[in-house]
Amino acid sequence: MAEIIFEHVTKMFQDAVALEDVSFQIDKGEFVFITGKSGAGKSTLLNLIIKQEEVTSGHIIVAGKKVETLKKNRVPYHRRRFGIMMQDIGMLEGMTVYENIYLSILATGHLDRNAKKYIMGVLGSVGIAGKANAYPRELSGGELARALLARALSVGPEILLADEPTANLDPDAAWDLMLLLQEINRKGMTVIVSTHARELVTIMKKRVLTLVAGALVADEKQAVYNQKAMDIFEERRVLEERAKKMEKKR
Ligand SMILES: Nc1ncnc2c1ncn2[C@@H]1O[C@H](COP(=O)(O)OP(=O)(O)OP(=O)(O)O)[C@@H](O)[C@H]1O
Ligand SMILES: [Mg+2]
Repeated sequence: MAEIIFEHVTKMFQDAVALEDVSFQIDKGEFVFITGKSGAGKSTLLNLIIKQEEVTSGHIIVAGKKVETLKKNRVPYHRRRFGIMMQDIGMLEGMTVYENIYLSILATGHLDRNAKKYIMGVLGSVGIAGKANAYPRELSGGELARALLARALSVGPEILLADEPTANLDPDAAWDLMLLLQEINRKGMTVIVSTHARELVTIMKKRVLTLVAGALVADEKQAVYNQKAMDIFEERRVLEERAKKMEKKR
């Protein structure tokens, strides 16, 4: 069953096109990479899913519900479907890893007497139970990434969204994190990962959506990194087609 549906989604920031006429479906339990160079629209796509941004036109449907028509007071419930790992949502520096996770569960209102056992279990599942009482700055890059993953998982999401989760990691730590994401996916969670990491994408052989200048130029199963992502001629083609369409509209 389709868990996320994009129907002709366009997102403009003033006159600039961030996503143009993007359509795809993601089924429950899929593992999907979103690739494309800087500015291609990866983060925008993820932000639209969680209603952090609003579509300019088109529709997004998550678990059967149209995202654009969700009432304001339903948005927090919508967000609770997602475990979110994004670069600009870091850990609070003055709190330990444990406290950071506690706080994020508190925000969803699901804390009970078993919280400690639960949080330790989540930290254990990503291999950093020993770091529960460490402060974020005391962690290595790989450990910090795992802590962010633990925080995302701690809310019990149906879908994990990770925006460039390996951006600051060395190749070994990046690979470890990808394997962890794969394991989480194998247990049944839908996992969507935006990334520049072409070697990792190629090794993982998952479904890959490739964005070029906001256009979805490829959607492939068990794919390797698509060269179009970095191809300046492909980018030129997308931009020229867009310019032609604009011309026609006038
Ligand atoms: N809040 C915003 N206001 C104005 N323009 C924006 C905003 N967010 C994104 N954009 C623009 O939309 C386009 C897509 O940006 P986006 O952040 O989605 O790219 P990205 O693929 O995630 O890039 P990166 O790999 O650098 O993270 C870019 O041209 C960007 O400048
Ligand atoms: Mg981004």
